[in-house]
Amino acid sequence: MEVSELKKAAFDDFKKARDEKALNTAFKKYLGKDGQLALVLASLKKTPLAKRRLMGRKANQLKQELLALTEQRKEELRRQERQAKAESDWFDITVPGKKPASGHLHPLTLTQRKSAEIFQQLGFSVIEGPEIETEWYNFDALNIPKEHPARDMWDTFWLKEPKSSPKLLLRTHTSPVQVRYMEKRRPPLRIVVPGRVFRHEASDASHDVQFYQLEGLMVDRDVSAANFKAIVQEFLRRFFAKPVKIRLRPSFFPFVEPGFEIDMTCVVCNGKGCPLCSKTGWLEMAGAGMVHPAVFRAAGLNPNTWTGFAFGMGLDRLTMMKYKINDLRLFYSGDLRFLDQF
Ligand code: DAH
Repeated sequence: MEVSELKKAAFDDFKKARDEKALNTAFKKYLGKDGQLALVLASLKKTPLAKRRLMGRKANQLKQELLALTEQRKEELRRQERQAKAESDWFDITVPGKKPASGHLHPLTLTQRKSAEIFQQLGFSVIEGPEIETEWYNFDALNIPKEHPARDMWDTFWLKEPKSSPKLLLRTHTSPVQVRYMEKRRPPLRIVVPGRVFRHEASDASHDVQFYQLEGLMVDRDVSAANFKAIVQEFLRRFFAKPVKIRLRPSFFPFVEPGFEIDMTCVVCNGKGCPLCSKTGWLEMAGAGMVHPAVFRAAGLNPNTWTGFAFGMGLDRLTMMKYKINDLRLFYSGDLRFLDQF
């Protein structure tokens, strides 16, 4: 092959090489040990002397040119690669970022935690009890015997259980934990019990098959209803971050004597009367009373020695008032349009 033809073919191949691997292949093809140029040089031996010198010079010159071209192409390819990388790495730091969606607590959880925190500051321990309860703790131990009409106050979900086991149910209130706790600990004691309770009833804006309560119990030698009133008032003042007026109305619960219901001034209208408080200015927020002797006895405590108050507060109600929510069912709907507001 003529050196000039070889040069043209080589230059073409070197220019066409798109990356270093292709360039290496081209290099081997022309400048390698058995490459085209080596063949030309080998053929010189058989070339007539007159032509040999010229061809030899041309071949050597081509070798130098191809070596230089290799370096040049290598440099070019590296530059292209650097540029492509810089372009693909580039990003626009002025584009607004994507906000990671962070979770948050459910309003009922907020209320539960806040209430527990306030009572802890007032010297109460936070205790939990089982959601599946026995008939004994939910009713009998609380002075509500079988066939007693007071059982009608709690529409109960009974569980199907094997014959040998005690009768089981979904607890209708957090009051059973009073007895569970007093059985194990000697007074003086102060506890609150937040938790979920269940009622077998039709749901509407202020009733559902499940809701949350906060039970309270304080037992000592000389506990009075006045102590109770002061504690509840202080709790509400801290919870709503303003003074809240309350009133006690006589009421009946089998596990207390005397028993009362606690109303608080409606915080939505400040007691003037609005739809939330049915225009009365007052909202019922808890049942309470002085612990009944029968309950002390069921827990193994002497009613002549010990006195105590107990209360059961509706946490859903409290949350509704705090955030001015008018339908209890929203709490359990899982509707993000509602939940994302907290
Ligand atoms: N357990 C009652 C209920 O769910 C509420 C209650 C009333 C709790 C009076 C008490 C109490 O501790 O003393 O309806």
